[in-house]
Amino acid sequence: MSEKDVQLEARLEEQDTFEPSEEFVEQANVSDAGIYDEFEENWPGCWERAAELLDWYEGYDEVLNDEDAPFYEWFVDGRLNASYNCVDRHLDERADEVAIEWVGEPVDEKRTYTYEELHEEVNEFAAALRDIGVEEDDVVTMYMPMIPELPIAMLACARIGAPHSVVFAGFSADALATRMESADSEFLVTCDGYYRRGDPLDHASKASEGVDDVDHDVTSVFVDRLGADGDISSTQYGYSELVDEHEGETVEPVERDAEDMLFLMYTSGTTGTPKGVKHTTGGYLSYAAWTSHAVLDIKPDDTYWCSADIGWITGHSYIVYGPLALGTTTVMYEGTPDYPDKDRLWEIVEEYGVDQLYTAPTAIRAFMKWGSEYPEAHDLSSLRLLGTVGEPINPRAWKWYYKNIGNENCPVVDTWWQTETGGMMVTTLPGVGDMKPGSAGPPLPGVSANVVDEEGDEVEAGDAGYLAVDKPWPGMLRTLYRNDERFINEYWDEYSNPDADEWVYFPEDGAKIDDDGYITVLGRVDDVINVSGHRLGTMEVESAIVGVEGIAEAAVVGAEHELKGEAVYAYAIIEDGYVADDELRERAIEGVEEAIGPIARPEEVIFTDELPKTRSGKIMRRLLEDISNEESLGDTSTLRNPDVVNDIQSKVD
Ligand code: WTA
Repeated sequence: MSEKDVQLEARLEEQDTFEPSEEFVEQANVSDAGIYDEFEENWPGCWERAAELLDWYEGYDEVLNDEDAPFYEWFVDGRLNASYNCVDRHLDERADEVAIEWVGEPVDEKRTYTYEELHEEVNEFAAALRDIGVEEDDVVTMYMPMIPELPIAMLACARIGAPHSVVFAGFSADALATRMESADSEFLVTCDGYYRRGDPLDHASKASEGVDDVDHDVTSVFVDRLGADGDISSTQYGYSELVDEHEGETVEPVERDAEDMLFLMYTSGTTGTPKGVKHTTGGYLSYAAWTSHAVLDIKPDDTYWCSADIGWITGHSYIVYGPLALGTTTVMYEGTPDYPDKDRLWEIVEEYGVDQLYTAPTAIRAFMKWGSEYPEAHDLSSLRLLGTVGEPINPRAWKWYYKNIGNENCPVVDTWWQTETGGMMVTTLPGVGDMKPGSAGPPLPGVSANVVDEEGDEVEAGDAGYLAVDKPWPGMLRTLYRNDERFINEYWDEYSNPDADEWVYFPEDGAKIDDDGYITVLGRVDDVINVSGHRLGTMEVESAIVGVEGIAEAAVVGAEHELKGEAVYAYAIIEDGYVADDELRERAIEGVEEAIGPIARPEEVIFTDELPKTRSGKIMRRLLEDISNEESLGDTSTLRNPDVVNDIQSKVD
């Protein structure tokens, strides 16, 4: 740690509450503390504030229909189009303003799209999609890295009423195939490759391999990202050829019902297969726009940057839909934060005069480790607000971010939410509330989140319990794709009382609440590991490992990791006749990379003769977690095989 960091820590260590500056409050989109009461007194009517941020072809008859709870409907019978709201309606006043600033990983490779240019591209690609057979309600899968054609394709789909399902480019061919099959998706938009730390990375073969594994026929479009560095010669449709064929064409945006699906997003849960989270056109888009307005304080003239990947929900809501619905400039960066050097992000902030930066604690921990000299080398004075999302941020990282990036002048919003919630749920309003490092803050106005005990009763301030949301909100998932039963089981089973028609959403996160109603989120309480802010189901990783020849059984847990937050630790039992050597370990790791992708790569693979099991035969993951974290072990008396613990411990040390 540098001398400066030491001083900073001494000074900031004691401070646990931070006020937004007067200057910030004065200009904030939302600065009246009365908004909390206002929303509560006029619930659910308060949510019109969100819907009013959009243009509707036809107004809704009712804000909320809860007759068939928890299958709620929002903005009932309203009609709108998301692409129209994110593009067309800005043309009158903002045609020449920048919609997307795209920064490629290779230095000096940039592209700028004004709203007018974005309109052209979206229309041409929408025409192309229709031409290759995409119809309203067909699910179009996108398997693309951070290139402009990804948001363009998403908006083109939205324009013609075809829901998209974006699969993170870092996922494997297998993961792509599973998602395409689950969604019955017959169309794929992908690309030849992209750059990672200076090298071209082949993506086309992974995409083609995935398509080969899908049981039904797939029509694919390939974007030529790499030019001579890539190869799309053998592919079905080339993106630029298609767009050229439709040059200058426009496509009338399709009027969609508020409840029509805008997109599907697959995410990990407790059980094996990923869940297809369904988001709608009216509720989701209103909520993304509202939270972008109230929490990120986005104004049309801002240059706003969320450094997430569009392959995750954060990128959907806060790179694409929220910011573009508000007509602002959204920055998109293709590469990693340390290429060509560890100041790449700060160089971008300086060059584009970024007003808001929204990133993840895992990135902040890396910046901290690299040292403050990197941000110090750049003028970051354009920044007005900072945000974080994806996992708990510890007070030390919060303060480092506040001081070294925000110059003690920018509010930091620590936003808790999930793929399923569509948008932010628990965070301070930057123009209203004080911030407490380590605590996300109170629930947003109109959001009814509490911390409850096992019985569902609210815990005392200071006690730990579980997050629970006992009122619906417009951005909520409507169901799991074609699986209403699983939707109920996963989210509504824990605390609801169907007989009394009381429905409580259970996010499966542990939390604490303080006297001021500020919520500190502690992390997942299900079998989900949060690696660098990415959700991985332990079952998915386990089945990948068990799929490897020579491995009989596996248990996977999350262990604390300095940069990633959590890392994957795998415990595996080998089959008779195989040897527990590095080769088998390597094959186990490869198995995970093939089934899911490099993000799920186990940090450690520990071979053991037995796994700790309860008398009823359930693996005691909690115990493996303690061993992985080198913590002292609690009660092991309920184990069927207590000796196994010492044995495993000796292998981890
Ligand atoms: C965790 C990402 C603490 C949490 C938007 C949640 C957080 C899961 C925070 C959702 C935060 C997200 N503080 N934990 N500010 N934000 N989480 O679906 O465990 O990828 O359930 O959505 O991330 O991850 P997901």
